[in-house]
Amino acid sequence: MNSKKLVSTIFIMAVMTLVVLNMTVESMYAAGEPARPQLDIVKAPFGETPSGEAIDIYTLTNAAGMSARIMTYGAIVVSLQAPDRDGNFDDVTLGFDTLDGYFKDSPYFGAIVGRYGNRIGDAKFVLDGETYTLARNNGPNALHGGVAGFDKRVWDAKVVRHNGQPALELSYVSEDGEEGYPGKLRCEVTYSLNNQNELTIEYRAKTNEATPLNLTNHTYFNLRGHQRLGDILGHELTLNANWYTPVDDTLIPTGEILSVKGTPMDFTSPHPIGERINSDDPQIKIGGGYDHNFVLNKIEADALTFGGRVYEPESGRVLEFYTTQPGVQFYSGNFLDGSNVGKGGVAYQYRYGFCLETQHFPDSPNKSQFPSTILHKNEDYHQVTMYRFSAR
Ligand code: GLA
Repeated sequence: MNSKKLVSTIFIMAVMTLVVLNMTVESMYAAGEPARPQLDIVKAPFGETPSGEAIDIYTLTNAAGMSARIMTYGAIVVSLQAPDRDGNFDDVTLGFDTLDGYFKDSPYFGAIVGRYGNRIGDAKFVLDGETYTLARNNGPNALHGGVAGFDKRVWDAKVVRHNGQPALELSYVSEDGEEGYPGKLRCEVTYSLNNQNELTIEYRAKTNEATPLNLTNHTYFNLRGHQRLGDILGHELTLNANWYTPVDDTLIPTGEILSVKGTPMDFTSPHPIGERINSDDPQIKIGGGYDHNFVLNKIEADALTFGGRVYEPESGRVLEFYTTQPGVQFYSGNFLDGSNVGKGGVAYQYRYGFCLETQHFPDSPNKSQFPSTILHKNEDYHQVTMYRFSAR
């Protein structure tokens, strides 16, 4: 074969290979089927704050059809579509249809809370010999970062590549002295959704002066889904926690770390949330249900470990979470009372949602026996929590 013939034979073979390959791909996506699925992030405007700042909402979609909508106000997860056992998608989080809903009395629906998620006793702490006084926005205590915590701030957003996939990076700079906290703090929160239906939240921060820091996400879940919303008492919860931190009657930890054994706090094997929620246990009475920090069983501190699982028997939906954090606040929606009218005009009644706020222990700045929450100058803060959705 002369060289001209050889070149044309190779060319014809290459064209034929491409045609065959293309046919295979085409036959997988027959005419009329939806476009080829892929990981995608789409930005849209979501309104303005009362002071006129523009807010955007980003929709993260994966190849399995799951989607998460996250906005730049409060870095809030506005909705999360997850499949049930028959493959039907529904929104499994509480929140509002419009931005305005979040300005009046949102109980932290979907938000990133900071600087200090959860409570600081007597709204005070001492750091390096200096006393810092915070706003008392929860009885005598400081809750969730103050009057205007990170949940009420406008975050900058950009779409980045994270572990080879598109992700949404939100950043916020908290000025020195904001809400009474020391140091100028830069925070980055990265949301990513992969094709295994895992929503990962990665937190990073740096400060120019030592400050307490306890970032978490305050999403309220209801795995029944919005179309069949009801209370969460039938959801079965497992927590990888042999210990918890009991609280006083203002929900500040007493400082003890107690075993869950033989108490309604024992979720080391699955129990419906409602099974023991009306018991006479003094801790349950104080919390008005569950509103407690559980100490996660860790083999290695700071490693991403299994935190727990929630199963909703009617839909078959399962939520599992993994975290690098030492604790999780399990809150059974005890303060919901129907006054928040949310997505689709649904009034969120008593215990219509639960939260699993992965975190450091409450009041750590005043409890030297708890793992430290102080971020020192130029230190790197890094935490990861992953929520995995499935159905059975
Ligand atoms: C956290 C607290 C609860 C309550 C909610 C918001 O989960 O622990 O006591 O404040 O936030 O309503």
